[in-house]
Amino acid sequence: MKTVVIYYTFGGSTKREAERQASELKAPLYRVKDARDRSLLAAFISGSLLAMRRKAVAIQPLDIDLNNYDRIIIGCPVWAGYPAPAFNAILERLPAGKEVELFFCSGGSGSQKSAQGTKAMIEKKNCTLISYRDVHTGVQPGKMKE
Ligand SMILES: Cc1cc2nc3c(=O)[nH]c(=O)nc-3n(C[C@H](O)[C@H](O)[C@H](O)COP(=O)(O)O)c2cc1C
Repeated sequence: MKTVVIYYTFGGSTKREAERQASELKAPLYRVKDARDRSLLAAFISGSLLAMRRKAVAIQPLDIDLNNYDRIIIGCPVWAGYPAPAFNAILERLPAGKEVELFFCSGGSGSQKSAQGTKAMIEKKNCTLISYRDVHTGVQPGKMKE
């Protein structure tokens, strides 16, 4: 089974968790980047709003073909209780029929309020959700930008 770890990070903690998983699984690691640089203030104001509305943001073109993998592990920070909007951009590019594992890094409150809807989004893509994990990084909002 071919597995890839794909993630978005703003402050670096999702990156660390993604690196840990990729090295444990000996899987390739791919970082998704915003098309435009985002300030911490913009992350809080427009980023949180987009996250709550489950809107995608513009990301840099993916130079990885997700069709080549059977299992796709997606990692993303939690913004305002929802996956950061880059997650929605990743889902737009997720091919159908894949096995998917999700992990969400948060400072404390986690992704509980959005978990059910996020799981439904994976099903809607005709993918199979294998695992869903909250990773509590303890990094509080406001103290971070990579
Ligand atoms: C815009 C913004 C909103 C956030 N909202 C939440 C939140 O609702 N709940 C929470 O527990 N943490 C929240 N955090 C904290 C991050 O989820 C946490 O620090 C996470 O580890 C960041 O991952 P990263 O370093 O990969 O960007 C927020 C951070 C930012 C920048």
